[in-house]
Amino acid sequence: MPQQLTDRFGRTVNYVRLSVTDRCDFRCVYCMAEDMTFLPRQQVLTLEEIARIARNFVSLGTEKIRLTGGEPMVRKDILELVREIGTYGLRDFAMTTNGSQLTTMAEPLRKAGLHRLNISLDSLDADKFRSITRTGKLSQVLDGIDAAREAGFRGIKLNTVVMKGRNDEEIPELIEFARRKQVDISFIEEMPLGNISEHDRGLALCTSDEVRTAIRDHHELVPATEDSGGPARYYRMPDSPIRVGFISPHSHNFCATCNRVRVTVEGRLLLCLGNEHSVDLRRVLRANPVTDDKLRQTIINAMDLKPERHDFSTNGDVQILRFMNMTGG
Ligand code: 5AD
Ligand code: SF4
Repeated sequence: MPQQLTDRFGRTVNYVRLSVTDRCDFRCVYCMAEDMTFLPRQQVLTLEEIARIARNFVSLGTEKIRLTGGEPMVRKDILELVREIGTYGLRDFAMTTNGSQLTTMAEPLRKAGLHRLNISLDSLDADKFRSITRTGKLSQVLDGIDAAREAGFRGIKLNTVVMKGRNDEEIPELIEFARRKQVDISFIEEMPLGNISEHDRGLALCTSDEVRTAIRDHHELVPATEDSGGPARYYRMPDSPIRVGFISPHSHNFCATCNRVRVTVEGRLLLCLGNEHSVDLRRVLRANPVTDDKLRQTIINAMDLKPERHDFSTNGDVQILRFMNMTGG
């Protein structure tokens, strides 16, 4: 009988987000500085170490794993990792990707056992897409989205970080696109993770209320009855099967129902996206000898460090110095 992970506030942790690389072929303005230094290889967890962490979380009641980055597909052994974790009997096994390699990778990932994909898409205008991602090519990602649809995933969701003056005017087009492609879409308020230079996050903040208003000019939005348990709040439109989600770290605090932890690519177990509390799992993994019991006990003890809530200020001030590519987007 698997044990359960519970924190001091009675929350059960059954969802783990594993960052498999800090590298990425894009440089999205909200995620990275233009000129980033990436970690040397020996500081990054090996495939075996990531799998071992995943397996031990599963034996502690984890039912859902998401692989994140950076861009997970930048890692050469990603299919092997997916194939391994795919054997753990998860209820839900997902990946967050920028979509740049999906034309060739969607089908292999699906066959390796991945259930669902979240694909970042901030603009449908090639020039704007380029200016937000700095290096990304829109057509490649659009082809990738089609490849993902053909590969037969259980679910595909688009993620859009909405920024005033950059892509907020495109909300209606993005909704039409998601409806046409029959994929879900979530709109995300930008979080103050890492120091960025390209825009003032305080000024660029577009709240989920504002996004909903922009959509309601064109479509009726009805709150969905089902609860995903996560931070997103979902809505439906009467004439489409897709769900429209809103992730509102600024305007709606969802910490009371938080069910997740993150593991960085360096093996740091992060108890909260908006706080620095963490435990070094890599040190435990690389101690000699290490047993699964010791690793599991470290994870169980870490739950006491999970903070009650995050508190992002809306003036765009950075309280968390980690960039999202370190944290796992
Ligand atoms: N705020 C909100 N979301 C972010 N992401 C990355 N950085 C941020 C940030 N500062 C999310 C985006 C992207 C995914 C990889 O991580 O949703 O699609
Ligand atoms: Fe790469 Fe995703 Fe960060 Fe963009 S948001 S730079 S695609 S990891």
